[in-house]
Amino acid sequence: MKLGILISGRGSNMAAIVDAVASGEIPDSEVAVVISDKADAAGIVKAKDRGVEAVVVERRGRTRAEHDAEIGDALESRGVELVCLAGYMRLLSPEFVRRFAGRIVNIHPSLLPAFPGLDAQKQAFDAGIKITGCTVHYVDEFLDHGPVILQKEVERLDSDTVETLTQKILAEEHQLYIDALKKLAG
Ligand code: GRF
Repeated sequence: MKLGILISGRGSNMAAIVDAVASGEIPDSEVAVVISDKADAAGIVKAKDRGVEAVVVERRGRTRAEHDAEIGDALESRGVELVCLAGYMRLLSPEFVRRFAGRIVNIHPSLLPAFPGLDAQKQAFDAGIKITGCTVHYVDEFLDHGPVILQKEVERLDSDTVETLTQKILAEEHQLYIDALKKLAG
């Protein structure tokens, strides 16, 4: 399974996936390319340090569809079969979703369909929720929406702050994304 990973920032989920592919935890797979829409994304260095090709495709005032078409070409030219969104902060165009129909997955730091969108951990915290978590799901053209592949619960303790809750969820995200890709690769 040839993976292409889209990022916009830190890239810790991307790094977890690359490491799990390298160690064989995700079997019969290869990370063909990491693509960032931000030139200063910290994840670009993490990808290169791991020997993975990292490409920057900025929006540069183009339409969403034009930008996504260039990303799609970069993925297809490298034979990518599954597109993994890992902190990619841009909504994909309907054209891109159709082009890779059923072959795009995303991770989100809440138990979807609860708390889609930005700052999901803070949304859950502010709502006083006792159980939140993370979700890996197939991507459709709506934000943080599409069939769920795997979810993992995380308990919010009375002693938690938004920051500690976010850290606990992130640690679970890394393993959940690996587990979801093992499921899809197997
Ligand atoms: C993660 O919390 C992910 O669920 C969300 O954005 C964050 C990205 O973190 N979509 P990283 O770039 O993988 O470190």
